[in-house]
Amino acid sequence: MGLPARFHRKLTVVLAMTVVLLAAFAPPASAQFISVRNPVISQRADTAVYKHTDGYYYMTASVPDYKRLELRRATTLQGLGSAPTVNAFVAPSSGALSGWIWAPDIQYIDGAWYMYFSASPGTARFDQRLYWVRNTCANPMSCSWSAPQRFNTGWESFQLDPASFVSRGVRYFVWAQDSPSTNFNSHMYIARMNGATGITGTAVEIARPTVNWEKEGVAGVVEGPSPLVKNGRVYIAYSASATDSRYKLGLLSSWDNVDLLNTASWYKHPNPVFQTANGVYGPGHGSFTVAEDNTTDMLVYHARDYATPTPDALTDPNRHTRMQQLLWRENGDPFFGQPIPSTVVNPGIRGQHSNRCVDNYNRDTTPGALVRLYDCNGGTAQQWELNYKAGSYYEIRNRNTGTCLDDLNASTAANADVGLHACNGSTAQQWTVQDRGNGWMSLRNIAGNMCLDNYEWNAANGARLSLYPCNGTAAQLWRLG
Ligand code: AHR
Repeated sequence: MGLPARFHRKLTVVLAMTVVLLAAFAPPASAQFISVRNPVISQRADTAVYKHTDGYYYMTASVPDYKRLELRRATTLQGLGSAPTVNAFVAPSSGALSGWIWAPDIQYIDGAWYMYFSASPGTARFDQRLYWVRNTCANPMSCSWSAPQRFNTGWESFQLDPASFVSRGVRYFVWAQDSPSTNFNSHMYIARMNGATGITGTAVEIARPTVNWEKEGVAGVVEGPSPLVKNGRVYIAYSASATDSRYKLGLLSSWDNVDLLNTASWYKHPNPVFQTANGVYGPGHGSFTVAEDNTTDMLVYHARDYATPTPDALTDPNRHTRMQQLLWRENGDPFFGQPIPSTVVNPGIRGQHSNRCVDNYNRDTTPGALVRLYDCNGGTAQQWELNYKAGSYYEIRNRNTGTCLDDLNASTAANADVGLHACNGSTAQQWTVQDRGNGWMSLRNIAGNMCLDNYEWNAANGARLSLYPCNGTAAQLWRLG
């Protein structure tokens, strides 16, 4: 004889509640191994990627002829490369928007899609002004977009590179614009938004060219603001210098609990944070997103794979969209590292002195197996999941063994063994990223308070790795690649 129906109903409710409670306390999604075939999207520059709650990445960018406001979407970052596109707007043959369409941004605000971009008349292609368009469909790849409307910044001059972000529930607009007070190409400004189609109050300058690396090949350029709000901080990466191989990223930092509309709230880092290296030229003007795990931070940027654009830095169509993992430094700031070349899909942890990678040597799965140096080959023995935890340290997990990089025995003795052990969250498996300049990092182990070290500077295949007091020498400098 079966159980009474009311019992089944109660059992169903109990089971459903259990599932909900388990989901509520489920650990955050783990990180993921980041493999990217770069370039992801050919001939797309100034790339904006927006990950929406529908699970799609929406992406827009400057196109080679600058005549279209193009949009695409995909459920994976790599998928954007082959995703179908639609045009939200096409430049007319004459008029104020018949010249160049530059550097669009895409946002979802109060139940509608918005794209912001700059455009110029065909008779004065550098006379750029900001515009916005709107689409009220849930899927902005369908339905038509409104006709462009001017986005007024408060004064008329060369203006470009719009971006928008929310901090503590307040939406801000950042952009680059020519200032009447200097001969620089652009300064950077911020304002609070009034809804989605304008600003309230007056624009506040937060950066202008002040150092030589912002003036290479130009009078002075700070443009392409790329906002990143995380861990109580507000960052704006920006692009500087000519849009050839001298193009590079700088970084502005602030806090989410200060007045972002106060110039004094913004700190400009003295050195570039991302620049030409490893056969990748002029990296810049992109955006930030997260990988498919909704956890791992990703840097989106454009670059060329040769040094000299022809016939010039804007007409040359080969600024391609590229992506790589963004790391976080000990002090909480983002660490950009160096551009990962197109030849590397599965980046290893590559040493500066040895130019070899941290390797699960002989694919030894024995607990406590030592890691050693070996020719970088992208194999699973050299693939590492860098899982940023508690906003302060990395757990570094090997793909072949599934175990974690470990200060074996939590030793504090110089030249301590470093190897692989079942991931256990101990301080012996907690690593922080030290920014050592020019995109090089040291990896400091919390338990040992020592850095991953190319022991005895032996650069041969199979050379032992160890932990040694952090000294910033080439034996302790690493990059993803
Ligand atoms: O790609 C067109 C323009 O070139 C972008 O607006 C600017 O960021 C870059 O210098």
